[in-house]
Amino acid sequence: MDLQLKDRVALVTGASVGIGEGTAKVLASEGCRVAITARREELLDGVADEIEAAGHPRPLVIKQDITTDDAAANLRKAVDDAYGRLDILVNNAGFAVPAPVGTEERVWIDTMNLNWGAVRRVSDQFVPGMIERKYGRVINITGTMEPFGINAATCAKAAVQAWSKGLSREHSKDGVTSNCIVPGRIHSEQNERGYPTVEDELAFAAQHIPAGEFGDPEDIGNLVAFVASPKARMISGSVMYVDGGMKRFSH
Ligand SMILES: NC(=O)c1ccc[n+]([C@@H]2O[C@H](COP(=O)([O-])OP(=O)(O)OC[C@H]3O[C@@H](n4cnc5c(N)ncnc54)[C@H](OP(=O)(O)O)[C@@H]3O)[C@@H](O)[C@H]2O)c1
Repeated sequence: MDLQLKDRVALVTGASVGIGEGTAKVLASEGCRVAITARREELLDGVADEIEAAGHPRPLVIKQDITTDDAAANLRKAVDDAYGRLDILVNNAGFAVPAPVGTEERVWIDTMNLNWGAVRRVSDQFVPGMIERKYGRVINITGTMEPFGINAATCAKAAVQAWSKGLSREHSKDGVTSNCIVPGRIHSEQNERGYPTVEDELAFAAQHIPAGEFGDPEDIGNLVAFVASPKARMISGSVMYVDGGMKRFSH
């Protein structure tokens, strides 16, 4: 199937490692012109090198802490200067933060800012242009709503899912869809820390993942590419799972 993504412009946040890196590579391989952003520029440069070495146009690298007040406007300016528009926004930057009762306020504020506030602020910069051009894809990488305990990121991701639904209600008619993708356990930097050995990973998978293993970043990227495509015009306001069957409860 031709996903008709050639020369579409995509911005992937949190693209220095993990799911964002894998997603940027898949979108580039489908012909997108890609902008990648995160804080660690040397890692972004490495991702850009790999994409270029694979025969695709070199991505625009934007070094930016996405939580700062001026981040969203900076990203918009950088993308506009380089490409003149944005068609596909992948809100991926984020981080799981266990927050048991008594967790200090600063942790909650910072985690909500990264995983929710920044998603909305960056989207607000780009969605008006998408509406004007009658084409846009907002794709939010969220997380399970079946947490093992209190996790501040889960609360932020719940906000993203509610907001994404609302966005889809208001602007699907303008050709702008908004969807959420929920990873189960995907190989990434944060999971390397959480599950440092293969044995740790397989033990978790045996207990919780019917597929029996963690996924790879490209497993998320492949769904992102489809949702980003004009072929997915009727998919909006959805929450989709890439988790090898890990989700247990339907709601
Ligand atoms: N992997 C999973 O199994 C899993 C499961 C559920 C949900 N998720 C969600 O999927 C997304 C990606 O997760 P991942 O596992 O791939 O994470 P990861 O490997 O830890 O990567 C996180 C990315 O976010 C960027 N980032 C973090 N803080 C940032 C900041 N303040 N400003 C700009 N960029 C920032 C990091 O780049 P720098 O450090 O270079 O800035 C990095 O590129 C997250 O939203 C996560 O919550 C992942």
